[in-house]
Amino acid sequence: MRKFLSMLLVIVMVLSMAACSSTPAASGSSSSGGASDAAAEKPMIGVTIYKYDDNFMSFVRRAIETEAGDKVELSMNDSQNSQATQNDQVDTMISKGAKALAINLVDPQAADAIITKAKAADIPVVFFNKEPDATVLASYDKAWYVGTTSSESGVIQGELISQMWQDNADWDRNGDGVMNYVLLKGEPGHPDAEARTKYAVDTVVAAGIQVNELELQTGMWDSVKGKELMDAWIAKHGDDIEVVIANNDGMALGAIQSLTANGYFDSGKYMPVFGVDAIPDALEQIKGNKMAGTVLNDAKNQGKATFELAYNVAMGKDPLDGTSWTLDDTKAVRVPYVAVTMDNIAFGEEAYK
Ligand code: GAL
Repeated sequence: MRKFLSMLLVIVMVLSMAACSSTPAASGSSSSGGASDAAAEKPMIGVTIYKYDDNFMSFVRRAIETEAGDKVELSMNDSQNSQATQNDQVDTMISKGAKALAINLVDPQAADAIITKAKAADIPVVFFNKEPDATVLASYDKAWYVGTTSSESGVIQGELISQMWQDNADWDRNGDGVMNYVLLKGEPGHPDAEARTKYAVDTVVAAGIQVNELELQTGMWDSVKGKELMDAWIAKHGDDIEVVIANNDGMALGAIQSLTANGYFDSGKYMPVFGVDAIPDALEQIKGNKMAGTVLNDAKNQGKATFELAYNVAMGKDPLDGTSWTLDDTKAVRVPYVAVTMDNIAFGEEAYK
């Protein structure tokens, strides 16, 4: 009995220490609100990431955590690519007293459902990375968006491809004046995936280059899927492929793995591969001459803006109070994209430090 009681005491002490802990943003786990201690005086901000297992989003998450420091109690949640899970997480954060939500949707069409929950609890919400429809965002005066102008990344990628295609006559392997490309698309229905796919190719065509699409399939932003698709495409088309266009670096990295295993980047055999994000692994491939170019998707500043807006509105202030951001007429902060090649690699590296 005595042993049992002392064990019980230890368990109670451990639990109460955990409840009093004010460690913000323990990465990979969600922390929730204590009620009466000093930590409880900090506003709780509830954040969801559509899935932790996304290369680019891990940098955005880190930026949010860095910005938050110990200013707030951050409840950071992995929605594990399930909208149902995310909806439950939002319910839990609201019931635990979150003062603001920062939501990276799983399904871009689910913004409505999140807004309904936030509205009922009168809590402001900052969506980030996956842009909700403008009409949905407009339906709640306490909803904002932090992201980019999706089409801009496609245009910049298309400009890079056009310029380098025109500068490198040998990329036209069969010399027919037509660019035979394969395209790795991100998640269908994702505004970034749709816009990058359209504008990258439209921009190349607008530069007066004739194109021929050998393949276009979704690799769901994922490097393993990118590699599998590239394996299949090389098996089917072999050297007919002249350019690889990827909606993000993750899939481009998968394609590079496949190409390397198939004898490219060796003994003068080359394949131009283009991505978006400028994540550090992609910059390494540019330095190793295995990736031709990418487009910086500024994770640090998107994470910073997301936190700053959420923090301001959690404190009952204007979302832009004390910040350098501006909102467009859809209530969105849009962080610019920048082309990155070997010529300005240091700039890309700096952006991810
Ligand atoms: C895009 C990014 C992708 C992926 C996606 C997730 O902006 O380029 O790599 O992270 O967001 O929504």
